[in-house]
Amino acid sequence: MADLVFRDVRLFSPGLEVQGDALAVTAGCVSWIGPSREAPAAIKVVEGQGRWLTPGLIDCHTHVVYAGSRANEFEKRLQGVSYQQIAAEGGGILATVAATRSASFDDLLASSQKRVDALVAGGVTTLDSKSGYGLDLESELKCLQVSKELKGPRIVRGFLGAHSVPPEFRPDADAYIGHLIGTILPKVEPECDYVDAFCETVAFSPTQIARLFEATSKPVRLHADQLSDSGGGALAARFGALSADHLEYVSSESLDLMAQAGTVAVLLPGAYYMLREPVAPPVKPMRERGIAMAVASDLNPGTSPLASLPLAMNMACVLFGLTVEESWLGVTVHAAQALGRPELGRLEVGAAADLALWNFDHPRELVAHLGVSFLEGSWVEGRELVSA
Ligand code: NIG
Ligand code: FE
Repeated sequence: MADLVFRDVRLFSPGLEVQGDALAVTAGCVSWIGPSREAPAAIKVVEGQGRWLTPGLIDCHTHVVYAGSRANEFEKRLQGVSYQQIAAEGGGILATVAATRSASFDDLLASSQKRVDALVAGGVTTLDSKSGYGLDLESELKCLQVSKELKGPRIVRGFLGAHSVPPEFRPDADAYIGHLIGTILPKVEPECDYVDAFCETVAFSPTQIARLFEATSKPVRLHADQLSDSGGGALAARFGALSADHLEYVSSESLDLMAQAGTVAVLLPGAYYMLREPVAPPVKPMRERGIAMAVASDLNPGTSPLASLPLAMNMACVLFGLTVEESWLGVTVHAAQALGRPELGRLEVGAAADLALWNFDHPRELVAHLGVSFLEGSWVEGRELVSA
């Protein structure tokens, strides 16, 4: 007896050939796929009436845990002030750090949960959540604990202490890296799945980040080559990073190394759009090298206040030239790879039963429309997340 069976559904799993129109779930995993007439008995049956069942979407790069608002910076940027200038004047990441440090745990959880709920309404069942707006031991731990308490989707937690140099260490980035390694990292490692860093002229150099990456036993990921070519892609590859993210300015040499290392390129069109970046990530050279491309919202208060993964998929197609199929791979199998969770993002026996049920006529509809809701239900490990 299965726990849950879907009958009369159209099954779509990006990158896989799936035969059948029914799927069973047992103990949180997909236990059987086949024709409806042969479906096993189950405690609960969902009659799909021909609707599409896909893996739940995976948003593999977000900064959902933060306090405050930076809508004022949006207005400044409209007037022509750059992101780098705003940061140099104490705005940007540091403005969010001040608000996040002073927020109570409960307020931070409540405001973060709203953003998570919005992503879930778009079909997300697995969500990345990075710290990085605390930048001291107590506040980074608070952000990681809030991530753990978020209700609904599966959460993968990243430690992004190397997001910006906090005010009390400025301008000594080296001293802050030493503090991260000696004091913060040992305490946060049990609370995170991977370590992330921001490699950029306005943040940390490759040498500083290499010190941090050498000090951790966790998998690493990197914000790389977003605003300039800092050799971030090469650095990520050197450490066997799960992913290098942004990559507008990544060099061909870095791409060669990423391809060899199997590092996923995470494309973040929300930030590209909001910053009106003049250069798009080199999708064609990535494709030619066989680099797996993921797509994520980068939901954050400054450069990408985007709480819709389907919209990020659309933007990745329109702004970066991805195909519809690549955009679906980017929020399923490739996103799972970027999180180091290959058992997610696929419909096959043994995979996690993280599922989404849709009322579109074809999966391309999800990508082709802006702001249209197609979700009819979602499940995490076979447990109902959005009611069908
Ligand atoms: O992924 N690139 C660095 N971090 C964030 C933006 C942070 C912010 O502006 O608050 C990003 O785009
Ligand atoms: Fe980011």
